[in-house]
Amino acid sequence: MSFDLTTVDKIASLRRDTIRKFRQVGLLRTLDHGARKFVRDLKNSLTSHPASRVDPFDLKHGTDTARIVSVGALDIRDNDLEHSNRYEAVVPLVFNRIMVELPIRHQDFTFVDIGCGKGRALLLASTFAFRKIVGIDISQQLIDIALHNIAVYHDGVMRCRDIEARCVDGRNFVPPPGDLVLYLNNPFDEQVMAALVDSVEQSLQVDQRKLFVVYQRPMHRAPWDRSTAFRQVHSSTRYVVYENIGS
Ligand SMILES: C[S@@+](CC[C@H](N)C(=O)[O-])C[C@H]1O[C@@H](n2cnc3c(N)ncnc32)[C@H](O)[C@@H]1O
Repeated sequence: MSFDLTTVDKIASLRRDTIRKFRQVGLLRTLDHGARKFVRDLKNSLTSHPASRVDPFDLKHGTDTARIVSVGALDIRDNDLEHSNRYEAVVPLVFNRIMVELPIRHQDFTFVDIGCGKGRALLLASTFAFRKIVGIDISQQLIDIALHNIAVYHDGVMRCRDIEARCVDGRNFVPPPGDLVLYLNNPFDEQVMAALVDSVEQSLQVDQRKLFVVYQRPMHRAPWDRSTAFRQVHSSTRYVVYENIGS
């Protein structure tokens, strides 16, 4: 269970990444992007030492969360390529700081990572006293890795052990009951984000409760900014927090 790709897989993945870029930005910018990436990869392969690739979080916990997985390598449909972002794990220090600063009693809330990938944010969230922790991702392969990580992860400071992860497209996500923290770390584009916002708004109409949205690397925040159901309570270049109105 990993994303160790064969040469054939790597070529297929590169082809899908190129299709994705072309659909997003057109031919010229795809070529420009490809040339820059080639130079960057070459530089990295000449300068990086294997020991520098060992991730401290994974080393400590025996997990596999650090390695980036490009969108082309994910087990998702070609039609979803241009709407999805690659797997890249959150930096623990950044995540912990955001969670500490949230104006909530963690034990009253379920934490949901939309686009959880290999589940690092789920594991980090487990050191807070959330009532429950849920992760969803469009990729079943990433979810399988997340489930393995959840099974092997042990930390003396764990305060929530009720953690689940399942394969669900953010477009089809239906929020679970109870007070929620929805966490997004730049998972997808504005089209999918708009569908998610619609679904969350509809859910609030039938079940009004407290709901915070933490959006890290908020590249596609417009649907949340437009929503009349939410107000922004924190904003920086790194992350935005919204709270539902009237809860
Ligand atoms: C930047 S990673 C974030 C990983 C994790 N949340 C973290 O912070 O460590 C973005 C994730 O979003 C997932 N994703 C992309 N499109 C998605 C969609 N339509 N529905 C659910 N997940 C999606 C990707 O597979 C990827 O794992």
